[in-house]
Amino acid sequence: MLAAKAIKAARRVCAFTGAGISVESGIPPFRGPGGLWKKYNPDFIEIDNFLARPEPCWRLIREIFYDFFGKARPNAAHTGLARLEQMNLLQSLITQNIDNLHQMAGSSVVHEFHGTAGRMICLDCHESFAAESIDLTVLPPECPNCSIGRLKPDFIFFGEAIPEPAATNSFAEAELSDLFLVIGTTGEVMPACMIPVMAKQNGAVIIEINPQPSAFTPTITDIFLQGPATQMVNNLLTAIDKPD
Ligand code: APR
Repeated sequence: MLAAKAIKAARRVCAFTGAGISVESGIPPFRGPGGLWKKYNPDFIEIDNFLARPEPCWRLIREIFYDFFGKARPNAAHTGLARLEQMNLLQSLITQNIDNLHQMAGSSVVHEFHGTAGRMICLDCHESFAAESIDLTVLPPECPNCSIGRLKPDFIFFGEAIPEPAATNSFAEAELSDLFLVIGTTGEVMPACMIPVMAKQNGAVIIEINPQPSAFTPTITDIFLQGPATQMVNNLLTAIDKPD
């Protein structure tokens, strides 16, 4: 398998993942068939709207990102990437996802380009807390530290900047890595989608896994493994395990 050979020959491999890698964990994508944005207007995670009307926004945030997403567990694609890291065939991982499934699967170098639902921050006293320690029975939730502060999940809302150090680390990978393994993303959302493009411009080989072509497929992808993430990652690991 060409992709397996390319990964074994690469000097530094970076995985770049989107919502598609978590679909087989039961988390719907944002776009495409069954996409969240077909069912919900994303305004509830637009920062000015959230600050103006926290209570209705928090009801949707709790329903989607905690009650629903919170039950998801890593699938074979997440664990496969963690195994590649353990085999020293993957040096870093950039994810657009906020579901913490890569860390739960055992990946240790994870740049969360859009932040994480696993933590909450107080917009007033700036303390941060593990999301599971926050009582969401009363909304908006109360800050355990300053009690008057406005809590917000620690992922970026529309209208917010990309968090540091994830932004710097992720763009650095576009310079340093000579192979990007792009999994489960439309490649349509800025500025995240610029990272694989910059990697390509720096000479990286782009391997893409997706059941459908994305914006990357006709432009930067060198090897397109068309299919669901779990099956394609399993095939990749099987081919890597085979002696050359
Ligand atoms: N395996 C791999 N990929 C899949 C699977 C699967 N089983 N099922 C769907 N996909 C692909 C779809 O073909 C699509 O390309 O996952 C992608 C999902 O696209 P999006 O929902 O747009 O996800 P993503 O590209 O990560 O969105 C980027 O948009 O709303 C923002 O912050 C949000 O991080 C998100 C960003």
